[in-house]
Amino acid sequence: MPHKQVVKIGLLGLGTVGRGVYRILTENVENIQRKVGLKIEVQKVLVRDTSKDRGIDIDPSVLTTNIGDITNNPEIDIVVEVLGGISPTMDYVLQSLNRGKSVVTANKDMIAMHGKELFAAAEANNCDLFFEASVAGGIPIIRTLKQSLASNNIEQVFGIINGTTNYMLTKMTKEGSDFNDVLKEAQAKGYAEADPTADVEGYDAARKIAILSSISFNTRVTLDDVYVEGITKISTEDIAYANELGYIIKLLGISKMTDEGIEVRVHPTLIPSDHPLTSVNDAFNAVFVRGDAVGDTMFYGQGAGELPTASAVVADIMDAARDMLRDVPGIIGCTCYNNKPIKPMGKTKSRYYIRILVHDKPGVLSSIALVFGNKGVSLASVIQKDVEGSTAELVLITHGTKEENVQDALIDIKQLSCVKEIANVLRVEG
Ligand code: NAP
Ligand code: HSE
Repeated sequence: MPHKQVVKIGLLGLGTVGRGVYRILTENVENIQRKVGLKIEVQKVLVRDTSKDRGIDIDPSVLTTNIGDITNNPEIDIVVEVLGGISPTMDYVLQSLNRGKSVVTANKDMIAMHGKELFAAAEANNCDLFFEASVAGGIPIIRTLKQSLASNNIEQVFGIINGTTNYMLTKMTKEGSDFNDVLKEAQAKGYAEADPTADVEGYDAARKIAILSSISFNTRVTLDDVYVEGITKISTEDIAYANELGYIIKLLGISKMTDEGIEVRVHPTLIPSDHPLTSVNDAFNAVFVRGDAVGDTMFYGQGAGELPTASAVVADIMDAARDMLRDVPGIIGCTCYNNKPIKPMGKTKSRYYIRILVHDKPGVLSSIALVFGNKGVSLASVIQKDVEGSTAELVLITHGTKEENVQDALIDIKQLSCVKEIANVLRVEG
């Protein structure tokens, strides 16, 4: 498009991220123009409610509630999707691609579930489909995996990839804050999803690790492939016991290429208090990548929030504009050319933290240890506390063992007359 002087944007959404995108595009307009070689201008913005106060200086005539004003507008070159959700968003994105408009999105739900269809539409229409902000907010991890580490066979990718839960666990660990209070704080700061269940139940992180796994292992990994546990079952007792044993609890997304296929999971994890991930606090994220050539690498930054996320979105817009200018859109498209199997969760190996409430009487520990021993689970350490009256609490850490062995043992342990409750089971890494 050599005749173009201005690249025009249709922005879908003016919430936390949309506002940040608008601010960066207007406040840094000259800098962006010099780097891209063209001016980038927001032509139309889709919202639900045009009368809402957005807290930014925006011409009201730019706002619309009609998607056709963007998808049917021949002047609009790039559609930036920061609405969230699948419906009607997916339809809007497909309409845009099918009309030859490149798309930039921050939507991990849509990419993790419908990536294949979206990439096919982008390729068929010779468009870019960029989604840097969909994983780890402001950290440039997608481009790093697709381009900077492209010469490697990636062996592992893992880390803290949800800002809301990291913020919550940080406050719960350092300040003893209440779960619901800190969730409200994370929502007020714009970190949480519209439905924060996706954050606290681990689904947001699961979508992100699905995306990272797909790119790392060149195999389509979807949300359904990911084993998911969130942080709702983490109690102040677990945090205190973990600390006493020398660990910090973090919600990790973990994905590894193994001989039995791709291991991919999200769960709260005890990590040793001297591990670098324990210093990743508040809404910060960190992603570790191990490649066969580069070795270990680590990427750190703000994983959620208005401007960090918008930073990634605007960089994608700039790349899409550059590709248009040089007439090379779609140059880096889908990279899922393999079809590796997913390793069943039962076959994964970890160490485990197990907290059990028992009747406080002689022989309890030996009967529990016997069941674990019979199932091939060996215990590394045990602490016992009196809880109240006749109830004692056992906190066990196992040696490395298969998930299926631990789960088998727990079925039998639940049946023991001395056992009142298996209060929590968490994995230990690092
Ligand atoms: P948000 O604050 O809830 O904003 C959503 C915006 O989309 C609002 O402006 C809303 O309009 C508009 N919208 C939603 N559905 C619409 C519809 N059907 N028709 C027209 N407008 C509609 O969400 P957000 O936090 O900015 O997140 C947006 C996306 O970015 C999500 O996919 C999220 O997962 C992703 N993301 C967010 C973050 C973060 O830190 N927040 C980080 C990375 C990625 P009204 O304002 O009129 O209601
Ligand atoms: N809700 C997400 C989080 C936003 O807390 O990480 C960033 O993707």
